[in-house]
Amino acid sequence: MSRAPIIPPLAAHGHLALTEQELIAWGERFGGVATAPLVVTITGELGAGKTTLVQAICRGYGVRDEVTSPTFALVHRYDAPASPVYHLDLYRLDGPKELTNIAWDEIVSDKAIVLIEWPERAGDRIPHIHVPISLQHLPDDPSRRLLYAGGHV
Ligand SMILES: Nc1ncnc2c1ncn2[C@@H]1O[C@H](COP(=O)(O)OP(=O)(O)O)[C@@H](O)[C@H]1O
Ligand SMILES: [Mg+2]
Repeated sequence: MSRAPIIPPLAAHGHLALTEQELIAWGERFGGVATAPLVVTITGELGAGKTTLVQAICRGYGVRDEVTSPTFALVHRYDAPASPVYHLDLYRLDGPKELTNIAWDEIVSDKAIVLIEWPERAGDRIPHIHVPISLQHLPDDPSRRLLYAGGHV
């Protein structure tokens, strides 16, 4: 497998239309080369594949536990060999003020991998340095998603 950095080539080449298996393979590769500290934002509608991608990134990074949607808790924390991993789903966040309750500042400044679904809910509290990923449905092909990673925001 190529040792080249994963983000710049994908960003330069624009988007990819991936099947679920391809998206999972991409996420596992991304997780395999990720190093903490790293904040990754994942935007996309319900069912776009954000959680599927988070699960793959976690697996690639070495998380052994089952990764489940933190829809009500807003954040789940997992251990991995190299650092903790935080998975946030901000869909139900009432506003940026509520971030204080989940120790947002500590999470995003931790030496950790931080994977954030619905980052728009956090407004300008998202750290300036992050990897933006977006997933979109394809109207003509329900089995594929458009993946944009890095450089487009
Ligand atoms: N190419 C694809 N990539 C990701 N998920 C897909 C794809 N094709 C179909 N799916 C399905 O879409 C759903 C995505 O769910 P999920 O990852 O929970 O989305 P989100 O977290 O964005 O709401 C899953 O049921 C998955 O099986
Ligand atoms: Mg989700």
